[in-house]
Amino acid sequence: MTAALLLTGIAELTTNTPAPGDPTGTITDAALLLVDGVVAWAGPEGDADAAVAARAAFADTTVHDVGGRAVIPGFVDAHTHLVFGGDRADEFEARMSGTPYTAGGIRRTVAATRAATEDELRARLAGFVAELHRQGTTTFEVKTGYDLTVDGEARLARLAAEVTGEVTFLGAHVVPAEFTGDREAYLDLVCGPMLDAVRPHARWIDVFCEEGAFTPEETRRILRAGTAAGLPARLHGNQLGYGAGVRLAVEAGAASVDHCTYLSDDDVAALAGSEVVATLLPGVEFSTRHPYPDARRLLDAGVTVALASDCNPGTSFTSSMPLMIALAVREMGMTPAEAVHAATAGGARALRRSDVGHLGAGARADLVVLDAPTRVHLAYRPGVPLVREVYVAGAPV
Ligand code: NIG
Ligand code: FE
Repeated sequence: MTAALLLTGIAELTTNTPAPGDPTGTITDAALLLVDGVVAWAGPEGDADAAVAARAAFADTTVHDVGGRAVIPGFVDAHTHLVFGGDRADEFEARMSGTPYTAGGIRRTVAATRAATEDELRARLAGFVAELHRQGTTTFEVKTGYDLTVDGEARLARLAAEVTGEVTFLGAHVVPAEFTGDREAYLDLVCGPMLDAVRPHARWIDVFCEEGAFTPEETRRILRAGTAAGLPARLHGNQLGYGAGVRLAVEAGAASVDHCTYLSDDDVAALAGSEVVATLLPGVEFSTRHPYPDARRLLDAGVTVALASDCNPGTSFTSSMPLMIALAVREMGMTPAEAVHAATAGGARALRRSDVGHLGAGARADLVVLDAPTRVHLAYRPGVPLVREVYVAGAPV
């Protein structure tokens, strides 16, 4: 039997279905009809009875009054590193006393991850997934990159694929210690046997293109190997300093270039003339004390911006998209509406997904009921747990 759920009493509904002058497609005093886990209709509450009659005539419709609260699409977190062992709280503590972040810390997490059993990693990952859901994230990407052996990277990708379809191969995170002095051999491994082993579980390929990680030439080679194997590109770029990341992402036709903290005018122009999403990760700047990326400059240039958590033990050990929204509004020049859009529709665009990140008819019914009358409260009340109810494909989680 068809299962239908009608949400009423929505003070402010963010659909992200663009309307003239309003990219957020906001409806006040709204209702939302979900049928079989998909949005069937969104509109003014006064039209709800007719909408139900027209679309769910034979359905058993449950009505749920959300009590004058705001409803937004579930957050789409397009950048996480959630499969790893241990943590690096000691490095964070040292950074807060002035020690700079370097990519070298990744090798410590690699050692802890290799030492972890599969059951330990699976249980930890399940804990993170619960943490994401509690905070309103309903779609998330997960990268490999903390094992850096053929079998180990395949193990991380397989575990990640148990919880998401958005798995990214990041064998090019750093050159592991055992290949110091023979980078070429490691590149051969990443572009050959490691790629082959991970590919069945992955959807994307990524490279950490940065001083201390991979050079532009190495990045180009790895992205080419990945795309030739059927894994489209995304990229870590321009995180710790100015560099070639954005240019390479545009050249490779990447779905997204992530971080974008240090951008030249040419980088911004290149992004604006491309389909590449700039995924900004303010949890990193919070935790490394680098300057926040300038979202305003990107938006004013016409670049599509996404917000993501980059949840990882080195640079951003938070999975909170509400925190990213608050930081983006306070520190990066975004309006609350732009930040919520970037954390939902922007993330979906960064993953090239049209079924999530919005609540138009046909979307997967992934949504958040906020304990607030408007989405502005996500930035206006930072740190307050405003996620009251979360639905994935029409079912509460
Ligand atoms: O996105 N930049 C590369 N990877 C992570 C950091 C990983 C780590 O330090 O463990 C990031 O910030
Ligand atoms: Fe990252």
